[in-house]
Amino acid sequence: MTESCTFVIFGATGNLARNKLLPALYHLQEANRLPDGMTIVGMGRKDYSREQWQAYVRESLQSRARGSLNEEVFARLAERLYYRSGDLHEQQTYEEIAELLQGDTQFSPNVLFYLSIPPSEYVRVGHSLSAAGLNSEEHAWRRLIIEKPFGYDSESAEILEQALHRNFKESQIFRIDHYLGKSMVQNVLVFRFANLMLEPLWNRNYIDHIQITHSESQGIEGRAGYYDEAGALRDMLQSHLLQMLTLVAMEPPPGLDAESLRDEKVKVLKSIRPIPKHAVHAHAFRAQYAAGNIDGAALPGYLEEEGVAPMSTTETFASLKLYVDNWRWRNVPFYLRTGKRMAHNSSLISIRFKHPPQQLFRQSQIELLKPNWIMLGIQPHECVRMEMQTKKSGLELLTQTTQLDASYCMASDIKIDAYEGLLLDAIEDDHSLFLRYDEIKWAWEVMDPVLKVWSMERDYIHTYAAGTWGPQEANRIFDREDQYWRNTVEEES
Ligand code: BG6
Repeated sequence: MTESCTFVIFGATGNLARNKLLPALYHLQEANRLPDGMTIVGMGRKDYSREQWQAYVRESLQSRARGSLNEEVFARLAERLYYRSGDLHEQQTYEEIAELLQGDTQFSPNVLFYLSIPPSEYVRVGHSLSAAGLNSEEHAWRRLIIEKPFGYDSESAEILEQALHRNFKESQIFRIDHYLGKSMVQNVLVFRFANLMLEPLWNRNYIDHIQITHSESQGIEGRAGYYDEAGALRDMLQSHLLQMLTLVAMEPPPGLDAESLRDEKVKVLKSIRPIPKHAVHAHAFRAQYAAGNIDGAALPGYLEEEGVAPMSTTETFASLKLYVDNWRWRNVPFYLRTGKRMAHNSSLISIRFKHPPQQLFRQSQIELLKPNWIMLGIQPHECVRMEMQTKKSGLELLTQTTQLDASYCMASDIKIDAYEGLLLDAIEDDHSLFLRYDEIKWAWEVMDPVLKVWSMERDYIHTYAAGTWGPQEANRIFDREDQYWRNTVEEES
């Protein structure tokens, strides 16, 4: 049976807690997966009573619970909910948490601290927790969940890592990348390693290139303070998209335990060919959204968003070409792309195969014959789709593209959010889907040259109208003219 614990959320009234953590806890409650006696303590600057906090959580869940809010489930969750107001900068805040856990209390001494706060506060909070003895595992376990971005480049990530390790052991630290909790992302492993027929094809002999796209129609949603400093490369590419790349490219691990999996992912990251400074423009492209419209609604440009610096050249769109220099992947380009305020929400891994070597079909020039694609739809539609060429009906021997869909392309009944599984993993002490520091370090190594060049070129950035797929110039990173972006599972761009 899972041990009871106290789940402390720093930044309990922030966006992440409201949109992801509280709904995840509610759904775990609904599935009866929260351990008996587990309590949830929200920590924030607002001065809420316990009742006000419960009412706040209820109101947050109204629109975020799957289906509609089940009052009976909420009542059971509410019994676990407590609130403490406090300033992260004052040691008193941490001493009060320590007092909560002392003596005969309803708060389990096993504690999971969720740092849903600005990354610049991680070191301070880690230090203050340990000054209050809250890092000590002498009598119970103590764990820390840290949100991305872990640092702003490899140097700051290293400083953060060392600072955390002054007070916490590696076994206590859970570095979250919520993409690893998405079921279709995990499905990449199943698809690759549970299907023998793919393995002989999964390499540079048969694959032309691989694309990983994450597009969002939403803008920065009031997060200018964070986003204007971070930009798309740090926000999405360094973490979520590179993690997806590792799963597509890795060798089969000897087992599915945390270390075996992470060892293989690190090998991929280490094999990524470094981008020399002089080649940054050939490998990376950035842009920022200007005013536009989506579904007829006029939308402001990035520079008009509240809190964005007036002359900001922060990128809201970034694309990157990478090569993985190993036996399996040498010279196969991996194209990564992400953007805010794009035409649709879509996360998609698209694998394009090479052309068949022989011109056999009359009237279908080999260049015109479409190559095979495998599309792994991560969201909004989870699916695996293969595009094959078949004969068109009729007297002529002409080809057409046919799509083979795996059955779970059908609308699924229950969509589990990534945070649900990941919170449960942390409660159960399973590190498999959390990042080891060397993954983060090598991911930053890939990004550092691009970040450096971009940080020096602050006087101009390309723009794209909100509601589009980004600027045409983004295509310049393609190796060949016949390569193009796949935007959604259904449509070609
Ligand atoms: C977060 C980024 O990590 O991931 C956000 O900070 C982004 O900018 C979000 O919108 C996307 O996550 P999901 O699960 O909605 O695809």
